[in-house]
Amino acid sequence: MIEVIGSHLYIGSIKAEQIANVYGTPIYVYDVEVVVDNYFKLKNSIKYRDLEVMYACKANCNVEILKALRDLGAGLDAVSPWEAALAVRIGFKREKILFTGSNVESEEMKFVRGELGILVNVDSISQLRRYGRMFPDTEVSIRINPGIGAGHHEYAVTGGITKFGIYLNQLKQVEDILKEHRLKLVGLHTHIGSGILRPEPFIDAAEKLLQIAVNFTNLEFIDIGGGFGIPYRPSEKPLDLDYLGDKLSSLFEDFTSRYGNLKLRVEPGRFIVGNAGVLLVRVVDIKEVESKEFRKVFVGVDSGMNHLIRPALYGAHHEVIAVSKADQPRVVTADVVGNICESGDILALDVQLPKLSEGDVLAVMNAGAYGYSMSSNYNMRPRPPEVAVYRDSIKLTRRRETFEDLLRTYIEL
Ligand SMILES: Cc1ncc(COP(=O)(O)O)c(C=O)c1O
Repeated sequence: MIEVIGSHLYIGSIKAEQIANVYGTPIYVYDVEVVVDNYFKLKNSIKYRDLEVMYACKANCNVEILKALRDLGAGLDAVSPWEAALAVRIGFKREKILFTGSNVESEEMKFVRGELGILVNVDSISQLRRYGRMFPDTEVSIRINPGIGAGHHEYAVTGGITKFGIYLNQLKQVEDILKEHRLKLVGLHTHIGSGILRPEPFIDAAEKLLQIAVNFTNLEFIDIGGGFGIPYRPSEKPLDLDYLGDKLSSLFEDFTSRYGNLKLRVEPGRFIVGNAGVLLVRVVDIKEVESKEFRKVFVGVDSGMNHLIRPALYGAHHEVIAVSKADQPRVVTADVVGNICESGDILALDVQLPKLSEGDVLAVMNAGAYGYSMSSNYNMRPRPPEVAVYRDSIKLTRRRETFEDLLRTYIEL
């Protein structure tokens, strides 16, 4: 659990303040128990008899999270050869991994299919042709663009007129290529976007895939992708998972009673890890500026858009909690900003905070998904460490980068 008790924010049964003091800031902290809860919440809401939850590790590749999900029997959605290789290294079974790349090179297909032995989910007609030439007589899956898209930001919409997937009017070409290279199509996949809080787009996309499925006889699974949203603001309503789960289950029970058995795959990333992580940062500067026209408070911290890019990239909102002043009245309206040389270097805009001092630790909440995994070394700053908490135990799973790490790929200095 990540919760406020009295004046403190706790992660598991450990005070966030204590973690910051022992391991330093900035730091990503994950509560593995929350990950496990989220996995079961999603799995139990879809009652369909043959369901496989494939964790989309692009959201967070933390090793303890991956191991916990592996042990629960989850599959894994990999979007790069390196994610696929990591999954194999962690011990996910090959048949539980699906590689869904975008603009995949032949060498990448060769590695994923040929060396790792993982099923490739092909994204375009051209890539399917190449795949067929390289791996005739094998199994393959295709990513469909069902013409339906949704998401928390236009950059997070991946169905409709986007670069993703095989369009509906290209399906005849798919049939021809399958025949020409004697490929066995075992899966139909789609992923329509990320951060979706309404059930309807998922149901519409699933219906579209099932309409397509009747044209193919050897299918083993239908994968409706990820995208299950989480509330980032207290005013946002969570996705109605029970409703969505019931609808999907009856859709699949009904369809498979005519078609024969099909596995239903889902690929949640954000839903599994989003609320399981916080980014702890320390206040290093408080700038209060006032004139006749405006009054502004900037709370400057020792992190920034290089560690959590969602606010800068998507205008995304993250709640902020002063970890040892959690019960104090929120009397200050401030922007929480980082140490990167950009005006867009924002962690939170216009948030209500208690009276702060330099040295206070803040938790940027719901930072478990697309936090570390989208971080960079911009401004030549090292990335933070990661710790995983399980109840009262804590483990450093990735150390803080050093100056030497930043120089590692330089040929000569
Ligand atoms: C192919 C694919 N599957 C699943 C996901 C996971 O999305 P989310 O984290 O929104 O569940 C993504 C992320 O965009 C993706 O590209």
